[in-house]
Parts: sequence; C-alpha cells; structure tokens
Amino acid sequence: MESIQSIKQRFEIIGQDPKLNRALEKAMQVAITDISVLVTGESGVGKEAIPKIIHSLSHRKHAKYIAVNCGAIPEGTIDSELFGHEKGAFTGATQTRSGYFEVADGGTIFLDEVGELPLTTQVRLLRVLENGEFLKVGSSQVQKTDVRIVAATNVNMFEAIKKERFREDLYYRLSTVEINIPPLRERQGDVHLLFRKFASDFSQKYKMPTIRLDEQAVSLLNKYRWPGNIRQLRNIAEQISVLEENRSITAATLSGYLPNNTSTNLPAVVSNTKAESDFSNEREILYKVLFDMKGDLNDLKKLTMELLKNNDSQKVQKDNENLIRKIYGNDDEEDIDLDQDSQEETNLNVLHLPEPKEDHILTSDAYEDKYHFAEEIEEEETLSLQEKEVELIKKSLERNRGKRKAAAAELGISERTLYRKIKQYDL
Ligand SMILES: Nc1ncnc2c1ncn2[C@@H]1O[C@H](COP(=O)(O)OP(=O)(O)OP(=O)(O)O)[C@@H](O)[C@H]1O
Ligand SMILES: [Mg+2]
Repeated sequence: MESIQSIKQRFEIIGQDPKLNRALEKAMQVAITDISVLVTGESGVGKEAIPKIIHSLSHRKHAKYIAVNCGAIPEGTIDSELFGHEKGAFTGATQTRSGYFEVADGGTIFLDEVGELPLTTQVRLLRVLENGEFLKVGSSQVQKTDVRIVAATNVNMFEAIKKERFREDLYYRLSTVEINIPPLRERQGDVHLLFRKFASDFSQKYKMPTIRLDEQAVSLLNKYRWPGNIRQLRNIAEQISVLEENRSITAATLSGYLPNNTSTNLPAVVSNTKAESDFSNEREILYKVLFDMKGDLNDLKKLTMELLKNNDSQKVQKDNENLIRKIYGNDDEEDIDLDQDSQEETNLNVLHLPEPKEDHILTSDAYEDKYHFAEEIEEEETLSLQEKEVELIKKSLERNRGKRKAAAAELGISERTLYRKIKQYDL
C-alpha cells in the first residue's frame, strides 16, 4: 500500500497530527472495498480530499469520479441531475438525459453536503445503495448501476434525523464507515505548519517576501479557536501576505486579523458579565445563526428562481415542500397557506408565506464573510445593522487612511461594493 506520506504529497495535505493521520489511514484502508463512507467534520477541515483519495486508490480509479454538491442543486432538479430523466418527464425535458448515477457506472460519486438532500431523493438514493437500482424521472424502467458512494456532511446528522429531515436508514447505509476529520483547534501542532505553507504559497503568488510570525504571534495562532478551520487559516495567511508591509508579523498585528479580537471589526454580541469561555460559546451560537440565515437566504433564492421559471405556484409548492418546510418550519402558526381558495382570492401566482421574522433580515455585504465578526457590542446594543455597517466602513477607511482597496479587503467586500456603499451612505 502507498505510504501515508506519499498520499499527503499527492493530495497536498499538510499536517502530522495523529488524528489526521488516522483519518487518512482509514481512507486508504477502505479504498479497495466498495463500502460506503461518510466523511464528517466541521466546515473547512479538509473533507473534500478524502473521497478523492478513496477513488484514486480503488479499483474504480480509471472510471469516473463525480462530485455533487447536494446543497447547491435546486430541489426541483436534483432527482433529474442524479438519476436522469425521460423525454417529456416535465416541462422543458425535451430529450432523455442520463444522470450522474448512470454516467458514473463503475466509478465513484461524492455526495457533498448530503444532509441537504430532499427526502424524496433520499428514497431514491437508498434504493441505489441497497441494490444498485434506480429509475429515471418519468420512467418506470428499472436501471442498474455500480457506483461507490462517498458522502460528506458538516451538519449533525443525528439532529437532522431527529427533525425528520434525514432518513435514519439512509444514514446507516451511508455511514458504514465514518471518517471524521478533526477541527484545526484539535490539531495544534499543525497550525503553524499550515500557516507557513500558505504564507510561502502566497509569497510566490503575489511575488512578495514571505511573512514570518514572531514567537508571540505563533503562540496566539495556536491558541485561537479557528471556527472556520483550515479555510479560515488560509484566508488569514493570504490577507496578511497582501496587506502587511512589514513582513515580520507580531502578535498585535496578527490579532487584528483574528475575528475573536476586540481590535477587529464586525460585531459579535457578548455579555460583559460572562467569562471568556462562555463568550466563545455565544460566539459559536452567533456564527450558527448567521450560517443558518445565509442558508435560508440561499434556499429563498432557489425558491424564487423556481417561481420565476415556473408559472404554477401550486406545483412549485408541491415540488419544494421540503425546502419550504425547512425555511418556514413546522409550527402551526407558521404553516404555509396551501389553500387553493385563498390563492385564487388574491389572484396572485405567489406563495402565501408568513412574514419573515425580523431577526432573519441581514443583507449587508459586509456580513458576507462568515468569519469576520469581532467588535464587542453590548447585548442591549440598539444600533441598526445599517448604522453599524456605516460605522464599520468609516472606521475601516480611517484605519486604512482612506485607501479603499485595503479597506475593502479588511471588510471582506469587493472594492466596487465598497465604492457603492460610500456613495449610498454619502461617506
Ligand atoms: N491538511 C490540509 N493541508 C492543506 N490544505 C488543506 C488541508 N485541509 C484542508 N485544506 C484546504 O482547506 C480548504 C478547505 O478544505 P475543504 O474544502 O476540503 O473543506 P470542507 O471540510 O469540505 O469544508 P465544508 O464543509 O465547508 O465544505 C481547501 O482549500 C483545502 O485545500
Ligand atoms: Mg466541502
């Protein structure tokens, strides 16, 4: 069997942590079998390398490897994407089309964000896993395929099962072997190693001398929680590489880039009376709320697109039942009005959706970068998000002596967006 070191080299995986090594070893061991594998771990930990390793070490390596992001495909089209459709199966299906399960016959399919699969698709997937059988959408002819499935998720699958968003039987089928990638904060020895690697990559990319951390900066790097894991570490290495003129980085400079610090910009709700450890929990809750909101926003975008494409709102509601339930929940008072009469009454081709809760509104581009929250604000802070945004932009411009490029990078928005906001707010 190939050595773990050569696998790391081939897939550009940095790190010596025993837990990471164990995960890679597991991937290498299961590769030669056809066992379904579920890769778990927080966002940004490096899950995507695992299915690639498994495929390339398996007897399927010369056949197709298809990676599907289940969370990015609209609910109305996912069955057709995965399993194909017959001509005339739905409006717009002018030709018979093969799905990924047919195309990848003999190979591997990586189902990323598998927790996002609609329940109806989960039923189809279960059947493929059980006996390799599937039906094209609109067809009654059973087809066979021989596909190895590796799935990944960064959500708690037991929660999803409890909320009846994910089938328990499918979960057990998918996770015959589970490979967990530990969060970066549990791989302390690897943090500086990874930072040095990224710093060296970015110095080459931007043709600048490599940044180096002094001793205190390294210690700060190791102590930080890294909620966005390796993805976040890489982003920070890139920001510092681009923005800092002095290539020797002190702890003070580094702390300006770590969202947990009071010297950085975006707001996080904290309580003055609580201990630091409680604060990190609150921050995590806040991250989660923001992630969920972003997820809701994406779901709403999908739904709006469906409505725009499809004139039949009843059909859209039916096809997207799960998505709608996901966004608006199951509470009685929040039930979506599926009543035909009331639709006709208003004579509108739109969904009768409940009013969004106020705390679901978050539009500022400055909040786009999910790891840029830091400035402490009191719990009773009453500033609106817009006022907060204006304040952040002003501060950032001041800090960067009016240089828009640097301010935009600091705020995590494009220069064009910053320019638009400066005009909009008359700054
Ligand atoms: N050990 C590692 N060495 C070098 N780079 C890594 C390592 N682990 C992850 N990365 C890099 O970090 C980034 C994030 O990894 P990846 O996309 O696999 O995250 P993920 O676990 O799939 O996260 P998500 O759940 O958000 O999709 C990628 O650019 C990846 O190349
Ligand atoms: Mg991923």
